[in-house]
Amino acid sequence: MKKTIRDYDLNGKRVIIRCDYNVPMDNGIILDDTRVRASIRTISYALNNGAKVILLSHLGRVKESKDKDCNSLYPVAELLSNLLKRKILFSPSTRGKELTEMVNNLKTGDILLIENTRFEDIDGNKESNCDEELSKYWASLGDIFINDAYASCHRNHASVTGIPKYLPSGIGFLVEREIKKIDNVLMSNTHPFITVLGGKKIDDKLGLIESLVKISDKLLIGGAMSFTFLKVLGYDINDDLVSMDNLINCKKVLDDYKDKIVLPLDFVCEDGNKELDELNKNDKGMDIGPKTIRLFRKELKDAKRVILNGPMGIFEDKRYAKGTRKIFNILGEYKIKTVIGGGDSASAVNKLGYDGMFYHVSTGGGATMKYLEERKLEGIEVIDDAKKQN
Ligand code: ADP
Ligand code: 3PG
Ligand code: MG
Repeated sequence: MKKTIRDYDLNGKRVIIRCDYNVPMDNGIILDDTRVRASIRTISYALNNGAKVILLSHLGRVKESKDKDCNSLYPVAELLSNLLKRKILFSPSTRGKELTEMVNNLKTGDILLIENTRFEDIDGNKESNCDEELSKYWASLGDIFINDAYASCHRNHASVTGIPKYLPSGIGFLVEREIKKIDNVLMSNTHPFITVLGGKKIDDKLGLIESLVKISDKLLIGGAMSFTFLKVLGYDINDDLVSMDNLINCKKVLDDYKDKIVLPLDFVCEDGNKELDELNKNDKGMDIGPKTIRLFRKELKDAKRVILNGPMGIFEDKRYAKGTRKIFNILGEYKIKTVIGGGDSASAVNKLGYDGMFYHVSTGGGATMKYLEERKLEGIEVIDDAKKQN
């Protein structure tokens, strides 16, 4: 059991909350505010309990000075101010005298958002390499560290795993909720338990496939993820999204779990629906076809638990969104306890209008994939155990 924010007396304390404000941004406009909204509960709790709140987050990847221009967290300060209906102090620097002074002047009820932690990557990758001196410096700004950056919990970075080495630490409400919900579906004993995978990152997700196929009753594979498996089976699939490096690994998974794996029977291509035998090298399967949808429905209708990662097709294009939409409908129609993980999968939920329909839509991409695969995350492991003394 990890300590949570509830385990600490926050009154008068400087509480550093690591959030994940890595939001899609276009010219300073936040395109999706889900992660900012998801951070409000922990911040409000800290404020209601008399804390001085210091917020840290990364945004994007910052490797050289010019990357700073489009990766400032300032728009997040404005959004937070609207959501919380109070002033948010903002520190444009990530270290130094001015920041230290701002922190020293904080009063109970103040909120200070510090600029993008990855600005520290420009000079020696200090944030991303979990630099000890930087971790200690940030830790020196607070009395308690709360990790609520669920989507960053797979990163061994100074602001995630560095600071809690030097401060009493706990998890926030978002991290607690994510783990509770995912565990609830992953670990419960009800069956059939079905995993649905799609998307296109087979090279990144082979470990995930190997881990989930073991515990699932069935593994349904759609999207471009299925192409490498179909290639192994000898179908004349377009090679663009086939992972030549993973043919052998996919063959092994197919051999070991042939009774569990369910692959598409047909695809929607640019010139219409095609069954596997009708495909030729030029056909790109943009979405799963109607026969596949029927097959997946048959497999899913009795499911008690589902984990879904990866869309069934190129859902961003209306012509190829039907497969993903139909699978979402089936999960809703049969009221199946479903966890959806993955950045694009979560955005498919929003874009196709399924917000609020599922048991849990994770705010994590890589973090959720890693948790599903390994059942632990660095950013949580490093947090104080509840049985230890402060
Ligand atoms: P997630 O972010 O949910 O983990 P991925 O990043 O693995 O998912 O994959 C998402 C992307 O996969 C989407 O942008 C989608 O357009 C693409 N995709 C899904 N199916 C296909 C397909 N059949 N052909 C090409 N791209 C696909
Ligand atoms: C995410 O969006 O998955 C997290 O914020 C982590 O971002 P990163 O992949 O840049 O570390
Ligand atoms: Mg993705």
